[in-house]
Amino acid sequence: MSKLRKLNTGRRKFIQDSAALGGAAALAGWVPSMALAQGTGKIKVGLMLPYTGTYGQIGLVITNAFKLAIEENGGKLGGRDIEYATVDDESDPAKGADNANRLVNRDKVDVLVGTVHSGVQMGIQKIARESGVLTIIPNAGVAAATTELCAPNIFRTSFANGQTTYPMGQVVAKKGHKNVVTLSWRYAAGEEMIGGFKDSFTKGGGKILKELWLPFPNVEFQALLTEIASLKPDAVFVFFAGGGAAKFLKDYQAAGLKGKIPLYGSGFLTDGVLEAVGDAAEGVETTLHYGDGIETPKNKAFRLAYAKAFKLQPDVYAMQGYDAGLLLIAGLKAVKGDITKKKEIIAAMEKVEIDSPRGKWRMSAAHNPVQDFYLRKVVGQENKVVGVAMKALDYPPASMCKMPR
Ligand code: BEZ
Repeated sequence: MSKLRKLNTGRRKFIQDSAALGGAAALAGWVPSMALAQGTGKIKVGLMLPYTGTYGQIGLVITNAFKLAIEENGGKLGGRDIEYATVDDESDPAKGADNANRLVNRDKVDVLVGTVHSGVQMGIQKIARESGVLTIIPNAGVAAATTELCAPNIFRTSFANGQTTYPMGQVVAKKGHKNVVTLSWRYAAGEEMIGGFKDSFTKGGGKILKELWLPFPNVEFQALLTEIASLKPDAVFVFFAGGGAAKFLKDYQAAGLKGKIPLYGSGFLTDGVLEAVGDAAEGVETTLHYGDGIETPKNKAFRLAYAKAFKLQPDVYAMQGYDAGLLLIAGLKAVKGDITKKKEIIAAMEKVEIDSPRGKWRMSAAHNPVQDFYLRKVVGQENKVVGVAMKALDYPPASMCKMPR
């Protein structure tokens, strides 16, 4: 069994192993930074991600793909061996800062990779800004991370929430839909996703008939679906992700709305869930910075390697985790693994062009990807790319970040 496959033999075992690793490291005490500067120590990477709950699978996929990138680089960063410390953040914003603090100030990680949930990210943001620890966000799209709370040591390899939905508002308006009902979990990600859609949809002449919300991670959709049926909008636009997205797609179909009221979303609605939902997602159109069938050598190689290692097809979360690995590899390569040379690492990460499965991209001045957004349509088990909805999108604009230097 390959090293990576072993890591994936079961979520419970994975978390136990990770906890044991983190615990052992904590007991032994961490290698002092002098050793790292002299080239003798391991680089310690903290993974703060959800491994349980509605976003649990997303955390696991990001972890696997991040480690795949590192393995493809010989299992090293700038020539150094790596040690991981892992925390299940449970997508619980109340524990966000404490969990990040544990990794940074107790476990003394050199790099923090996290997380998925925008609310939890705000806790990471606080600790990352206070400590200056090099931080890579592999999913959470909260706008503040790369606008008013941007920082030199914080990079994102995923998206800003509204960046994924702004293109879809334009698409839906151009289709001639006038009155749309929106539906989402009410937390930072949901509000910003709906905000991005609304921004371009209303600019295109559309009207939001009603905004419907439910608390994260509630999946009791029935009453809201009944309300949608009675409102009779031209279309419905939603943000859900992970296990909640799968449940929503099945409930939309079971309520008899599929095929009657067109359903649109950010791509998180249909990414990573198609095996679980049967034909409930068939025909649903979304926008996202990744899709199936991108015909580049890089994407083909990534998909093959991921499928071989984990016996699963990769999705957008895997691609973002993989790119987090590529970004860190570039940063540490520039300093031959000397993690103490933070300015040089940051400069390298700012200027590198990531040759990603999504297509080549670079960081904005705010440390958020400037990237293309694909229009995708579910066909069978694929989020098939049918076009480019917007090219090189920087949203919210990097000018909203006054980067402290
Ligand atoms: C977020 O909370 O930022 C988020 C979670 C899942 C998918 C997309 C965004």
